[in-house]
Amino acid sequence: MNDSAIGIFDSGMGGLTVMRALAERLPGERFLYLGDTARLPYGSKSADTVKRYALQAAQALVARQVKLLVVACNTASVSLPALQEALGPLPAIGVIEPGARAALAVSPGGPIAVIATEGTVKGGAYVRAIEAHGQAPVVQQACPLFVAMAEEGLVDGPIVEAVAHRYLDPLMATLPRPRALVLGCTHFPVLRSVIGRVAGEDVALVDSAATTAQAVARLLAERGLARGAGPHEPHRFLATDAPDRFARVGEIFLGRAIDPGSVEPIDLQ
Ligand code: DGL
Repeated sequence: MNDSAIGIFDSGMGGLTVMRALAERLPGERFLYLGDTARLPYGSKSADTVKRYALQAAQALVARQVKLLVVACNTASVSLPALQEALGPLPAIGVIEPGARAALAVSPGGPIAVIATEGTVKGGAYVRAIEAHGQAPVVQQACPLFVAMAEEGLVDGPIVEAVAHRYLDPLMATLPRPRALVLGCTHFPVLRSVIGRVAGEDVALVDSAATTAQAVARLLAERGLARGAGPHEPHRFLATDAPDRFARVGEIFLGRAIDPGSVEPIDLQ
């Protein structure tokens, strides 16, 4: 079991930003990533549809004997309780809880600004997670175009800048001014430099990737599931559409080249 891979999934390539932090924190582990590229975006779909998709993705990873599931998609994190029920004893971790804790550590009194998909904003998952651990007020903004631009590999330049102003200027004009801005969608870290510039130097950007990696490391240690010092295994990937494109554009998210031969097509329907 310890030798099995950690399964990670997202609607597309965004979750690769989480996988990047996981691989840095846990270099001895094996990783199997699933991107549901055929059905992206999840952010504009109903909670029931996202739940159904998330369950299918999780089952595909379970069928490949993963030892732990990382839901590297904020939008799909609404399905964590349902997933946990369906998966039985297999541990599952989402990105919302670690992100909420990281935001409170930066700005305990708030206000905390959250940018995310429409589904995450409407579902109020960050508001609940932040309220569960602290007193900080939360202000939110849905940024669906950020997902489309990131999946296009469009991560800088005047178009991204203009869209960022449209989303962030009203949010950051909140009084008192937010000091923490949560990147509440795993696609957003690739737009970090534009988001940071537009939000302002005095604002700390909170990315849940590193804190999720810490939570995964802790869980592996607690359950005695860590792989330890095995030979390094190349990452493996599954994509529900366009595996070649996944390998090409995914590099921006993972921060390293993806061998097209390591991306397998998969049908979840
Ligand atoms: N990357 C996903 C998230 O963290 C969602 C992007 C989408 O499919 O809309 O919420």
